[in-house]
Amino acid sequence: MLSGLFSRSAASAADFSHQEQASVEFRDVVKSYGDHHVLKGINLSITPGEVVAILGPSGSGKSTLIRLINQLETLNGGEILIDNKPTGQLTGAALRKLRSRVGFVFQQFNLYAHLTASQNITLALEHVHGWKPQPAEERALELLNNVGMLEKAHHFPAELSGGQQQRVAIARALASSPQIILFDEPTSALDPEMIGEVLFVMKTLAHSGITMIVVTHEMQFAREIADRIVFIDGGQILETAPPEQFFTQPVHPRAQRFLQKVLNPLHQEHL
Ligand SMILES: Nc1ncnc2c1ncn2[C@@H]1O[C@H](COP(=O)(O)OP(=O)(O)OP(=O)(O)O)[C@@H](O)[C@H]1O
Ligand SMILES: [Mg+2]
Repeated sequence: MLSGLFSRSAASAADFSHQEQASVEFRDVVKSYGDHHVLKGINLSITPGEVVAILGPSGSGKSTLIRLINQLETLNGGEILIDNKPTGQLTGAALRKLRSRVGFVFQQFNLYAHLTASQNITLALEHVHGWKPQPAEERALELLNNVGMLEKAHHFPAELSGGQQQRVAIARALASSPQIILFDEPTSALDPEMIGEVLFVMKTLAHSGITMIVVTHEMQFAREIADRIVFIDGGQILETAPPEQFFTQPVHPRAQRFLQKVLNPLHQEHL
């Protein structure tokens, strides 16, 4: 069970003080690649401090949806508002400011291989946010401590396990004190025994007040930490519901089939 999953990682103490938060709203958001319509009119309001899990089959548009928020992708129609203000299409300093408000954690960690854990965090603080080296280093150590990685601060990514690298990536995403943090399948690249320590950190973070949007295939985790499940397929939101309702009484037939498949992988029927 999930509690067992978390308890295996008790050594990785996670601790976050109260985090900032902001709302996110999608209004009729459309995204295409050429004539491939990937998102077909997304409307979704996420309140400050809400924890939302995005579920759906492969290729349904989950990554695209969250990548639009911090403009790793640009939308083709509609708008995305943060704290009720349209974000527009940003470049330069304005884009950097948006990304300091919206942290992103990738499936493949995306740490710089030639920099230590600490340097992976101080890099942006110094060169994007203008911090002096000493305070940046102190901030990095504080963040690494928060994710239970202080003792590995001066190790390079290659010297860290996948779970440890992902915890460093989470610390890095929090460096600029974002109000929103986005996770794109943060445990999918990990060996099973590493998953718990990352979920443990995320669970602690979810309780800190930050607005959190998580694309995940960890159904137990989504059920336990999310305030709301958003189920997406074919570029459309087919169902949003509180976790207990979604997992026990999904309404949309597509959501029912999806759950049947992911919860009973040995008995899957055509999806
Ligand atoms: N840069 C791109 N160029 C062209 N097509 C793309 C691009 N990125 C995504 N797509 C297509 O858009 C669709 C949605 O992709 P997306 O990555 O958002 O899905 P997903 O739900 O995150 O899937 P998965 O669970 O496999 O990560 C897919 O059909 C994908 O092939
Ligand atoms: Mg994806």
